Amino acid sequence: MAKLYTSICLIILAISQLSIQGVISSATFTFVNKCDQTVWPGILSNAGIAPLEPTGFALQKGESKVLNAPASWGGRFWGRTHCSEDSDGKFTCGTGDCGSGKLECAGAGATPPATLAEFTLDGDGGMDFFDVSLVDGYNLPMLVAPSGGSGRNCTYTGCMVDLNGACPSPLKVMNSDGEGVACKSACEAFGKPEDCCSGAYGAPDTCKPSSYSQLFKTACPRAYSYAYDDKTSTFTCIGADYQVTFCPPPTTSKKSTEGQETPATPATPEISTGMVYEGADAMETDGAPPLYTYIYSAIAAVTAAVFLW
Ligand SMILES: *[C@@H]1O[C@H](CO)[C@@H](O)[C@H](O)[C@H]1NC(C)=O
Repeated sequence: MAKLYTSICLIILAISQLSIQGVISSATFTFVNKCDQTVWPGILSNAGIAPLEPTGFALQKGESKVLNAPASWGGRFWGRTHCSEDSDGKFTCGTGDCGSGKLECAGAGATPPATLAEFTLDGDGGMDFFDVSLVDGYNLPMLVAPSGGSGRNCTYTGCMVDLNGACPSPLKVMNSDGEGVACKSACEAFGKPEDCCSGAYGAPDTCKPSSYSQLFKTACPRAYSYAYDDKTSTFTCIGADYQVTFCPPPTTSKKSTEGQETPATPATPEISTGMVYEGADAMETDGAPPLYTYIYSAIAAVTAAVFLW
């Protein structure tokens, strides 16, 4: 009886060890609004998984909100702007509207153009895959910053610059005051297969960047500028939590560890913790032990338990 008890204790210990160290735990997302206006984040979870809720909420200027993602969650976040409720109680937004008529999007996605942050947690090799995408256009600057994770390209991504003012006129979306509020993708503006990577252009070797997508890429080198922009735009982490910041403030640091950053893009955005991102260097040397050490400790504990029993 004592042996059985010991065995159970060891197994429980092994399991709690695994979840504490992040192998089977899920991530937290901290949404931060650094814009000088309210942003209404929208959340769309991928089909067939436990959804992340709420699916829409208001984030006042300066406010932040933490959400815990279910294990292996995947989906997208975006910011809705210029939202209001009409006299019938119908909720609509000037950009990023999800068409639900309510604060929560409840399974509906963003109407383009909208800057998207896309995540797949606990994917291939136990890694989280994430990116910021301008494939469906742009409406707000966004920064995704991992913390506490490990991996070779576990670093921040995003589109930190304001493209609403700089948007070329064929792509520009303006409000009634003639102020730029969003910037369409070339695909949405012109509907041509070569811009949409569809039809004969529906493969990585046939769909090439257009002059418009290159404009996005120059302004935001880490963000997806067209559908097959994977190589420079997909980032991965193991065991990280994430901060999603709308309108990240421009950096004060002049140090750049990434030669490819354009002058228009802050190389080291400062996030709300006061921590300055120095690029991949600082992010790679994380103290977390590799995955196999967890697996070893689990196997050892289970073997010991069986043996004692
Ligand atoms: C990050 O790693 C993934 C997976 O190995 C790879 O597909 C992607 O190209 C890398 N991204 C960057 C920006 O280097």
